[in-house]
Amino acid sequence: MDKRIVELQFAHRLLGGNAVALVATRYRDRVNVMPASWITPISMKPPMLAIAVSKNCLTHDYIERSGEFTLSLPGIGLLEKVHAAGMISGYDCDDKLEEVGLRPVAGEALDTPVIEGCLGYLECTVEEAYEAGEEHTLFVATVVAAYAEREAFDDTWLLTEEEAKPLRHLGGHLYSVLSQRISAEPKATDGQDL
Ligand SMILES: Cc1cc2nc3c(=O)[nH]c(=O)nc-3n(C[C@H](O)[C@H](O)[C@H](O)COP(=O)(O)O)c2cc1C
Repeated sequence: MDKRIVELQFAHRLLGGNAVALVATRYRDRVNVMPASWITPISMKPPMLAIAVSKNCLTHDYIERSGEFTLSLPGIGLLEKVHAAGMISGYDCDDKLEEVGLRPVAGEALDTPVIEGCLGYLECTVEEAYEAGEEHTLFVATVVAAYAEREAFDDTWLLTEEEAKPLRHLGGHLYSVLSQRISAEPKATDGQDL
């Protein structure tokens, strides 16, 4: 194997291929959205996840103010709109959702809406916030509701229809989708069924 050195500013891309979520936030009557891929599950009991959000984002401000956010998981059909939502800040426009052509719809549990036309949804309430380096805050949140489109997900992503495959982020302007399910037999009987 012929190794190459990866610039440390891009080291995180070696972990790339994370799900891209549209993070919707709400403060008073204003809703904002941004794509995020620095998101990871951290607990099953209770279901919890962590998301790293830049302190420069309006999303950061709204999460701090409201203590909640929703994640909507888009498929490839929303690629252009997802990317556009990551190229401008809600600080610089009146209504970013309208600007990029995304529509908010009521979720199940929280006042913060989810984004229409996505494949899966998580509604989250913030438990803790930790400084992460100079620029980001790691918000640790409990998942209070989760639901998905039947043709996209049963207990895992189905990966049958192209348009029902969740979008992943490789880094920069590059995205991907998962190609297929691969079963590792025998199924683990000890340890956690992650
Ligand atoms: C695919 C993609 C993934 C991104 N992931 C993150 C992320 O995990 N955390 C973050 O702070 N910004 C992330 N960004 C950048 C924000 O989406 C971007 O700064 C956005 O304009 C912030 O919008 P806001 O100021 O309206 O909240 C990502 C951008 C793209 C395109």
